[in-house]
Amino acid sequence: MAIFGAHVLVAFIVACAGLLWLRSRSSSKEMRDIPGTMGWPVIGETVSFISDFSSPAGILSFMRDRQKRFGKVFKTYVLGRITVFMTGREAAKILLSGKDGVVSLNLFYTGKQVLGPTSLLTTNGEEHKKLRRLIGEPLSIDALKKHFDFINELAVQTLDTWLGRRVLVLEEASSFTLKVIANMLVSLEPEGEEQEKFRANFKVISSSFASLPLKVPGTAFHRGLKARNRMYAMLDSVISRRRAGGEVRGDFLQTLLRKHAGDDADKLTDAQLKDNILTLLVAGHDTTTAGLTWLVKFLGENPEVLGKLREEHLQIRERLNGTSHLGWSDVNNMPYTNKVMNETLRRATILPWFSRKAAQDFSIDGYDVKKGTSVNLDVVSIHHDPAVFADPERFHPDRFDQTLKPYSFLGFGSGPRMCPGMNLARLEICVFVHHLVCRYSWKPLEEDDSVQPTLVRMPKNKYPIIATAL
Ligand code: HEM
Ligand SMILES: *[C@@H]1O[C@H](CO)[C@@H](O)[C@H](O)[C@H]1NC(C)=O
Ligand SMILES: *[C@@H]1O[C@H](CO)[C@@H](O)[C@H](O)[C@H]1NC(C)=O
Repeated sequence: MAIFGAHVLVAFIVACAGLLWLRSRSSSKEMRDIPGTMGWPVIGETVSFISDFSSPAGILSFMRDRQKRFGKVFKTYVLGRITVFMTGREAAKILLSGKDGVVSLNLFYTGKQVLGPTSLLTTNGEEHKKLRRLIGEPLSIDALKKHFDFINELAVQTLDTWLGRRVLVLEEASSFTLKVIANMLVSLEPEGEEQEKFRANFKVISSSFASLPLKVPGTAFHRGLKARNRMYAMLDSVISRRRAGGEVRGDFLQTLLRKHAGDDADKLTDAQLKDNILTLLVAGHDTTTAGLTWLVKFLGENPEVLGKLREEHLQIRERLNGTSHLGWSDVNNMPYTNKVMNETLRRATILPWFSRKAAQDFSIDGYDVKKGTSVNLDVVSIHHDPAVFADPERFHPDRFDQTLKPYSFLGFGSGPRMCPGMNLARLEICVFVHHLVCRYSWKPLEEDDSVQPTLVRMPKNKYPIIATAL
């Protein structure tokens, strides 16, 4: 009986996938002019896409192969839908500059449901602009200053535990960045039961849509929604304590609650507050974790770069008379570190493509793209363009000494949707790296360059190392 049930279920899924595929074949008539292959029935080109995705080089070879055959704009059928990929600086300008509302952000269904309708990521146009303005303020360089000491102390404490044991850099980076952002947003203490609950809920939420949205029946989505509700209940109780005046803090929530009390134009509802606190967590956590982890990995693989970087930081430490009391002005004076960070974001391309939906018909490279089409900007190919980045596989931070052509480096994106958390991410990474290279040298415990099959690119083995004191 159970076996029979399973067969019916499988047949049903195959039928659904088949219908989706047929539907997209018919809609592909509108894009008849755009070259590309749709691959096998039902699965399309998903298999080669995913196997490339988890390989060390990522989707680069998938893209290269098709760009050679079809040019800079091509269509394919991956992950349950027909998608147009585009690459090049020209395409980046059209898709990212947001002129004339040609394109808007395109989230998968699960992401939309979990984040809620008033998230920065689910709004467009004027509503999006207003939210950006409100959210950008507490993330500005000035506003970040007051979180500096917390970040500095936490980095020192985290690294205190590293000596002489097997460390998974990705786990450490993940715990560090989550504690930082939870403290910034709602003043959550870095240790204790609340932090544990918060972390557990966040993990479930994030895995409900951080993985590739394959059309497999599963309950990750459902569990994600439930964890989201628990997180929102927690935020509700913090918000009501703040409203009652029992608690005043200098965090992100407090800044927005003050707005809340202000004039109408700047008012945010509780739903908007919660949706956007979750949005910052989701958009900021895995990305910063991945950035920090890749940076440590690239340093491990490039001893010359590590040497130069360490020199910059030992000089700072000397000015601090050998103490760990890094200051705000020190962080704003780390030129080589900034180049290393940019080179890390270029080489790793943590978000390998940016998804958009055509808000109206437009043409690119002589092809017409119809309104409603999913279009993806292939950023990996832009970051590996040998005309801009000579010897693109090489990790070479000094290449950023040259002024780059517009739209050639998109580590934090560009235009109206450029990353609003950029300054925070840079701050966290600068502080952490300072203490790391001043105290330790380290060796990887495994040679494995595979990549996790999640939307945010991360080393699959979490980069295990052992650290020794300098
Ligand atoms: C190394 C770390 C980070 C990287 C590489 C990164 C990268 C990016 C990129 C490339 C985009 C643009 C995506 C697109 O155009 O489709 C973006 C958007 C965004 N990022 Fe980041 N990010 C990082 C850290 C953060 C942090 C710490 C936060 C929050 C505190 C954050 C919040 C956001 C949000 C909310 C958006 C959406 C903006 C919008 O749609 O208007 N990011 N990020
Ligand atoms: C380091 O020591 C010198 C001399 O003792 C002192 O003038 C200077 O202020 C100290 N710097 C810091 C950052 O403590
Ligand atoms: C790093 O990239 C950003 C663009 O995201 C640019 O503004 C900045 O000048 C670059 N920094 C260095 C040191 O190259």
